[in-house]
Amino acid sequence: MKLCFFDSGIGGLDLLYTCACLMPYADMVYFADNGNVPYGSLTEEKIRLLTLDVFEKIAEEKPSAAVIACNTVTAVCAEELRKTFPFRIYGIQPAVKPAAKICGRCLVLATPRTAASLPLLRLVESYGRGVTHVLPCEGLASYIEENIFNLNRSEVEKLLPDFRADGVVLGCTHYAFVKQWIAEKYGCAVFDGAAATAANVCRNTAAEYPFSPYSGKITFKGGDVDRNERVFGLLKSKNN
Ligand code: DGL
Repeated sequence: MKLCFFDSGIGGLDLLYTCACLMPYADMVYFADNGNVPYGSLTEEKIRLLTLDVFEKIAEEKPSAAVIACNTVTAVCAEELRKTFPFRIYGIQPAVKPAAKICGRCLVLATPRTAASLPLLRLVESYGRGVTHVLPCEGLASYIEENIFNLNRSEVEKLLPDFRADGVVLGCTHYAFVKQWIAEKYGCAVFDGAAATAANVCRNTAAEYPFSPYSGKITFKGGDVDRNERVFGLLKSKNN
């Protein structure tokens, strides 16, 4: 079984890692487009065009399924990608539902493009229980992308909006790298959609490909391959 992942940059590596832990038997290919980060500050049209380009390459891999490890791309064009390509495509969405169920006032932090998107608006309307607020974090994804080997807590805090929250939802996969600092700034629980997304991919692919032979190979394609591989190595060593 082959799963292809896509994020603009390093953000999706956390989801890749979670999926690799759950499905060590699967062959995984991680696609990125680091040179064009931040996708979350581009126009919808530009995001669509860049993403379609990458998905043409993903299609050449003949994957069993693809995972959009990017909230921005999921919000802007997951539906179009599903109509265009013959393989199954999973997306990631902010964990609004579990957060609003448990916490009072919730804050969703997202890229400007995700924050303004219709899918997030609908999600918040349906599951936010009227107490969920969305705020864009201009600059945070690119700060993390550029400084991943040298992140500075006060620089990150400068990019986080002030808000009194009982629960914070990560609306961008890059933010997982500074989850602890986010939890400490707002003094509350932080909800990340990666675990639920990985569980969903695992459950569905196990049902669709019950007897796939063992592969367990992870490769990196597109963008800054060496850097993405190094960051993945860091995640592995941190968690082992
Ligand atoms: N990691 C992407 C997301 O989850 C966005 C990063 C970017 O703006 O490129 O939204």
